This record gives sequence, C-alpha cells and structure tokens, in this order.
Amino acid sequence: MVKKKTCVFISGKGSNLKNLISRSREKNFPINISLVISNNKNAYGINYAKKFRIPYVIINTKNQNYENKVFLNLKKYKISFICLAGFMKIISSGLIKNYKRKIINIHPSLLPKFKGLNTFSRILKNKEIKAGCTVHYVNEKLDSGSTITQKSFFIEDNDNELDLKKKTQKLEYSAFPEAIIKIFRNI
Ligand code: GRF
Repeated sequence: MVKKKTCVFISGKGSNLKNLISRSREKNFPINISLVISNNKNAYGINYAKKFRIPYVIINTKNQNYENKVFLNLKKYKISFICLAGFMKIISSGLIKNYKRKIINIHPSLLPKFKGLNTFSRILKNKEIKAGCTVHYVNEKLDSGSTITQKSFFIEDNDNELDLKKKTQKLEYSAFPEAIIKIFRNI
C-alpha cells in the first residue's frame, strides 16, 4: 500500500497531530505525515514534528504571500491530502479548490450544531444532552462540509467546560484516524 503524503495544519497544542503521527506509523494506516504547517511559531505541536523528524513550515497569515508559501511547500513535499487539526484560521478558497475533497477538519461539536469557536461554553449554556466531535470535509463555509465520522457522549450533570473538552478530545483521538481509514477504504 502506498501511503498518501499528508500535511497536518496546526495552531496550538497538537495532540491530534501527535496521535495521527503515531497511527500513521502503523503498517496499514493509509497516510503518512510528510509535512506540518503551523500559523503559530510558538505552537507546542511543532515539537512533535521535530521529535519525529517531520518537515515543518511556519506561516504568517498576516503576510500577503503566505498562500504562495503554503502551495510551494505542498508541492515540494508532494502532498495529496490535508488534515486540519486545531488550525485556527479559515483555509483560503484557492487551497480548497486545489484540494477538492482532500481536506478534512476535526471540530469539537456534533455538527451542524455549534459551528465556530467556544463550543463547550455554548453547549453547556444550551443545556445539551450530548456532546462530541465531528470529522468533516472542508468547503468554503465554516465547519459546513459533509460529515465523515461523528462520535458522541452523554453530558453529565456536573460536567464543566474542561470536562467536556477532555471527553471530546478523547473521542477525537479515535474519530480522526477512523475517518481517514474510512475515506481511503472507499477509494
Ligand atoms: C481539537 O479539540 C479540535 O477539535 C479543535 O481544536 C482542538 C485542537 O487540539 N479543532 P490539539 O491541538 O490537536 O491538541
């Protein structure tokens, strides 16, 4: 099996990146993490790229030329698949057009509910029964592309935002790899 050369975009902690790197080392996992792009030079997740000797690139989205830098690097590393893992910027339409149905994102809510930021406080405020995560394709509209995998849990009475975050992230570590396996099983 030829593994798809994949780029993971991050902005922060990178725990999903860490998880994907470890899963991608399994013989039958369909992707290989060949590049990491961060829009934050201080993102902790860059340490995982360093540790596992994966090339990484820091971009500054305030710089007009940043999209060019992204494209050049995607080309340089022959990237055919992109995972957004905690990437806190909207992806440009140029990138979406060039990687149609080749970009996926993980979001900490049961989409289509609670698109955007601060999901956990809104989930609690709304007195939801369930929370969870969604892996979906990325299109031009924020958190709106079709769903690949969704995992949920029941919210307990005393759960606070941090509890929800922890429980959601735990599910993310199985949902993201499962979504990737599902995508490539169908191709
Ligand atoms: C995840 O909870 C994901 O749902 C959201 O951002 C968070 C990133 O966490 N999009 P990490 O950087 O992978 O630890």
